[in-house]
Amino acid sequence: MRKALHIQPDLEAVLSPPAAESKSSSIIPARALEYPELRYMGSKTRLLPWIFETLDKLDFESALDPFSGTGCVSYLMKAMGRRVVASDFLNFTSTVARATVENNRTHLDERALQGLLRGASAKRKFIEQTFSGVFYTPEDLRFLDRVSGNIRKLTDPHQQAIAYAALIRSCLKRQPRGVFTISGDLSRYDDGRRDLRLSVEEHFLEQVEVYNTTVFDNGRRNLALRSDLFELPRRKVDLVYLDPPYVPRSDDNCYVKRYHFLEGLSCYWEGMPVDASTKVKKIAKKFTPFSYRRTAVEAFDQMFSKFKSSKIVLSYSSNGFPDLEQLETLMRKYKDHVQVFEKPHRYHFGTHRSVARSSVIEYLLVGQ
Ligand SMILES: C[S@@+](CC[C@H](N)C(=O)[O-])C[C@H]1O[C@@H](n2cnc3c(N)ncnc32)[C@H](O)[C@@H]1O
Repeated sequence: MRKALHIQPDLEAVLSPPAAESKSSSIIPARALEYPELRYMGSKTRLLPWIFETLDKLDFESALDPFSGTGCVSYLMKAMGRRVVASDFLNFTSTVARATVENNRTHLDERALQGLLRGASAKRKFIEQTFSGVFYTPEDLRFLDRVSGNIRKLTDPHQQAIAYAALIRSCLKRQPRGVFTISGDLSRYDDGRRDLRLSVEEHFLEQVEVYNTTVFDNGRRNLALRSDLFELPRRKVDLVYLDPPYVPRSDDNCYVKRYHFLEGLSCYWEGMPVDASTKVKKIAKKFTPFSYRRTAVEAFDQMFSKFKSSKIVLSYSSNGFPDLEQLETLMRKYKDHVQVFEKPHRYHFGTHRSVARSSVIEYLLVGQ
């Protein structure tokens, strides 16, 4: 059996992979590093320079990022001048990508912003009624109801996406642990951070500006979709960047459990009924085969098969299941040449103890 090539970062310079050619610019575009960071499980924001080094050596004009999450890798590829399709099965993450990746021109101008802040009180009070005593202050909840009603009146989808992206980042910043699994008195997490002193409305005003700054035209028609990976219509792209969730050794990797509030907020919980019996007013989980040992191997196989006509770049980490060897074997079923790039990495997520546990080796498997 053919062995895949493993490349340590310091060896990358002397080995030239087969498709290492055109468009190499060697320096990561500055705007990719300025992408607004979201505290999001599995975000690759801090790995962008390393991911860039690998992508930059590959020949591609169009790219699909079907697990786009925060959108930072899609945005990197947009900044590299490629035509990008970003997709995720969550509504709030695809909305962020609509604001930053798909949107080439539209800003949320002062007039539109004033329209969002208008009105003394909201007509619909779902957020205040549902989340009082669970998350945020009563003023924050009232603001969320009011601004949500006004956002839905915006007719431009990209202005609407910017407003939602700003709201989502505001809510994440204002949530002491950046996840929505715990509720009530969270003052023990208050370490004096500015993010916890600002109201959601004050954050929102800042974040609209932040997302307006991300808008640029790379001369390509980029797209943001909301779709399960396996339901994505076939489209011809030169490269797919795959960053699925990992089956963790312990705990779970459920995105809805951690971010249900943002997912609901992104559509005012329409079609997403809350389970009133839960303490944090969760919505239903979404099934993904990448979360379970019994389904993950088959899911990787099907995924590689689906994208066999494109170059594949897979992000993976040493604490995931299946392990690297199995993934290489699966990828080699569809690709003649597989290279593995490695980088030690420490995830800053969760409590102090779990941070210690999250020292991993990050892999990029490149199949062509
Ligand atoms: C590891 S995260 C991606 C992180 C992203 N690359 C970033 O840097 O922010 C995995 C993403 O896959 C999405 N996801 C999980 N299962 C999915 C599926 N079956 N189809 C589409 N998206 C899925 C999750 O919502 C999550 O955003």
